[in-house]
Amino acid sequence: MSETGKNWWKEGVIYQIYPRSFKDSNGDGIGDIPGIISKLDYLQSLGIDMVWLNPVYGSPNDDNGYDISDYYDIMKEFGTMEDFDVLLKGLHDRKIRLLMDLVVNHTSDEHPWFKEAKQSRKSAYYNYYHWWPAEKGTPPFRYSHFDATGNAWTYNKATNAYYLHYFSEKMPDLNWENVATRQAIYEIMRFWFKKGVDGFRMDAICYISKDTSWPDVRDLVKTKYNKDWGGYYAHGPHLHDYLKEMHKETIEGFDVTTLAEASGITIDEALLFVKEDRKQLHMLYHFEGMMLGYEKEGYKRPDPKGLDLVKLKKVYTAWDEVFEQDGWGTIYLGNHDQPRMVSRWGNDAGEFREVSAKMLMTFLLTMRATPIFYNGDEIGMTNIRFDKIEDYRDIETINMYKYLQSKKEDLERFLKDQQTSARDNGRTPFQWDDTANAGFTTGKPWLKINDNYTTLNAAAENSNDRSILQFFRQMVLLRKHKPSLIYGTYDLYDEKHPQIYTYTRTLDKEMLLIVLNFSKQKIHYDLPFQLAADIEPLVNNTLTFNLQGNMLMLEPYQALIFGPLPPSKVPGRRAERALKIKEENTSLESTEVAF
Ligand code: GLC
Ligand code: CA
Repeated sequence: MSETGKNWWKEGVIYQIYPRSFKDSNGDGIGDIPGIISKLDYLQSLGIDMVWLNPVYGSPNDDNGYDISDYYDIMKEFGTMEDFDVLLKGLHDRKIRLLMDLVVNHTSDEHPWFKEAKQSRKSAYYNYYHWWPAEKGTPPFRYSHFDATGNAWTYNKATNAYYLHYFSEKMPDLNWENVATRQAIYEIMRFWFKKGVDGFRMDAICYISKDTSWPDVRDLVKTKYNKDWGGYYAHGPHLHDYLKEMHKETIEGFDVTTLAEASGITIDEALLFVKEDRKQLHMLYHFEGMMLGYEKEGYKRPDPKGLDLVKLKKVYTAWDEVFEQDGWGTIYLGNHDQPRMVSRWGNDAGEFREVSAKMLMTFLLTMRATPIFYNGDEIGMTNIRFDKIEDYRDIETINMYKYLQSKKEDLERFLKDQQTSARDNGRTPFQWDDTANAGFTTGKPWLKINDNYTTLNAAAENSNDRSILQFFRQMVLLRKHKPSLIYGTYDLYDEKHPQIYTYTRTLDKEMLLIVLNFSKQKIHYDLPFQLAADIEPLVNNTLTFNLQGNMLMLEPYQALIFGPLPPSKVPGRRAERALKIKEENTSLESTEVAF
């Protein structure tokens, strides 16, 4: 364990709620806060420690709440501030903390600041946003994630200037260079901290600082996923100054945590954000794991070669190595911006769905990082796989479709790819039971419900001892009772094995061994070290256990945990790495001698 201290946010499990799709209380087809309140006991039954709530502030919903028009109020469709207070208290009464979503790279164009700003260059709020005066000619090209034209600058007549929007044209980017903008944001944060919320998940936080010399990068930008985008779109020169200032002005003095959505972040810069004595942020999540299995260029296009487990192990191991030094990591396999976890990384076809969902849970709950689960993961919900554009509600999919249409690109292929990667796959309403509309609403759901709800639902899983849901509850409990699963060092074995992911977690004199079969094949697997002949696994997601000598016969997607065992004498990757560093140092010394 690093020297950094123990903390509640390192020890807890985060559960993400997408309010629009969780539970509708009034039959308008849209999930709401009273709906969440009605499920508080369910949340408690999961054993989770923190809820990350997607945005619930005032919003015209161009991007489902990520376009905020009032930071001090609750979206009408979701309820009132009184409802929010009841929710917060209900969570706290159950010892669950609440992390809000902080969206401060941009506001809605319906926010009063922008409404003022767009009136005149003399407006007190003009400088709250980024403008390009028309007399300077065409603005330097910037790609917009959500704009059907692909252009992030939109002309505004009254100011005779273009405003910047990295996302949709209804989401103008805030200008953090302006002290007044920053102070207004800190004020918002203090308001919610004073209300008692326990932290923020920070949306698109790497975007807040831009290179405002606005270099012309047209040649660099082939697509929005071009690997160089991070340097000129985001991660600007003042990013860390702002984060430091934000910490000082808001976080200090409150027992809260922060979780940064750190798109474009590389391993080398991770500690700049979360190294504890830098006093910026507490945790972050990266996209390196998420992008595996997609092609490098273009929208999220599944790579026909599929998932390479060796690469996956490499990514998660490298990130562990960083946070072993300092700071703290998180781990997730899906959220509201991603398809369903079991469809993406496991196997949602028939017989393998349950076992692979449990295997993925075992992975998330045994790594050295705060695990983040997305609502529905705990019952193994799957991708809906829409086959026509009319079914989608997500602005990202809809506008990308329009964009590709304008470029005369292959729309059929796009729709097919979206069945794997579209965000709406993860946003379909929660499947509570087998009654009409999965018990989510008595009205017409805002987004179609997956037909499999008649068998795949929380009620059915609740009354089945061997369900994914029960497995989740048991695994969450296990993590709580085994400090080695939280703070223990992680050590990888057999890093080149293409189907099996094996690692240990060791704290003091105790070790747990985790063996995960990520494939649908039965595998004969030679353990890296000998176990007692009569050993029984501590956790097993299947009914079979077959160990002969050193050889494990693993079922498809089988997940096993052994232990507590005494620390292994057979070195894993950590020891090899330490040895390598030592050798490198020795050869350095000998070079020095030679000189
Ligand atoms: C983040 C959110 C995503 C949203 C975008 C713009 O990536 O997670 O849902 O669309 O920011 O706010
Ligand atoms: Ca509702």
